[in-house]
Amino acid sequence: MKLFDLYPLFDIEPVSGKGCYVYDQSGQTYLDFYTGHAVISIGHSHPHYQQRLQAQLQKIGFYSNSVQNSLQKAVAEKLGELSGCEDYQLFFCNSGAEAVENAFKFASMHTGKHKIISFERAFHGRTTAAINATDMARFKPSINCQLPVEFHAWNQTESVVKSLTNGDVCAVIVEGIQGIGGIHPAAPAFLQSLAQLCQTFEVPLILDEIQSGFGRSGHFFAFQASGIQPDIITVAKGMGNGFPVGGVLIHDKYPPQKGMSGSTFGGNHLACSAVMAVLEVIEQEGLIENSQNIGLLLKSELENIPEIKIVRGHGLMLGLEFDFPIAALRKQLLFEQQVFTGSSSQPNVMRILPPLSIGEKEVKLFIKKLKSALCQLPTPYSPVLIPA
Ligand SMILES: Cc1ncc(COP(=O)(O)O)c(C=O)c1O
Repeated sequence: MKLFDLYPLFDIEPVSGKGCYVYDQSGQTYLDFYTGHAVISIGHSHPHYQQRLQAQLQKIGFYSNSVQNSLQKAVAEKLGELSGCEDYQLFFCNSGAEAVENAFKFASMHTGKHKIISFERAFHGRTTAAINATDMARFKPSINCQLPVEFHAWNQTESVVKSLTNGDVCAVIVEGIQGIGGIHPAAPAFLQSLAQLCQTFEVPLILDEIQSGFGRSGHFFAFQASGIQPDIITVAKGMGNGFPVGGVLIHDKYPPQKGMSGSTFGGNHLACSAVMAVLEVIEQEGLIENSQNIGLLLKSELENIPEIKIVRGHGLMLGLEFDFPIAALRKQLLFEQQVFTGSSSQPNVMRILPPLSIGEKEVKLFIKKLKSALCQLPTPYSPVLIPA
């Protein structure tokens, strides 16, 4: 059987990893400033993570959600404590898109409505309702477009107010920092205004923190810089540091009903062990503070590189905007400088999403390699090679 050939692949195969680095079969070292789509939060092959998963595997890997699982309760408690979201209840699922689907489901069950308000450049996943609320999907088959969705201007609420007054909105969904859309942070005033409007019109506000959550922005959740309290929060990616796990945090004011949703694999023993290890390492190693502090250092170094027009983002979730498409630069970085970086839906914007554990050494190394890659770029990309 062949693979269903969906992904354009780089011809590199990481076979091991340690901290901020991955290694291919020939032993070549790569600096990982992308973490496989913002997934590796605490670093590759963290010993505590390995130990927790191995120990759990020795005991039991899985049983269904029809029996007690005290690991789930322990994770919910730890997550509440570390994130400051103690007034929420945790629903476990297996991926980001599944978290978004369930968030919509809970919102629709609560309001009895089904229109979604989303924003330009939004990315919320590739499943039915999630892709419908995604602004950039090239492939949106009609089965995924059955529900009404509106895309509003980013960081503005004028048109949102008008829409909410119609009384047919099920939920407003917004990323704390837009990720795939090119790293656009939600302005605090925008989020505060959305939270206020949602409260007034009794419409659940869903914060999609799948990419920006778990410390990446320098706060546990990116929205926390705005001081708001969303009704529903979606999480995945960095939550499991590579173990497939997602979750929905639902504010206590929304009571659950038995059977309103569910998942075979959600919150299984291995997933819980992975999330617990991530939370413990984030706490013990001060990774949220590190993300904030090292993020500031990285940002200031990047701002001194003339080829970069704008540096956007917070913590270790940064977008570098160039005035040329970055595809060639990313290849140069990967194949000549051995650095992983990310693309975005904006051809000129590179995403920088390293592990939250990087230090000054990795910042310096990245800056050196980025400068070298920029110098090596053929014209017309590199201004330094254009004759005066
Ligand atoms: C903000 C956001 N929401 C949802 C998703 C979908 O997550 P998954 O690929 O785990 O389904 C992503 C994935 O990149 C994302 O960045």
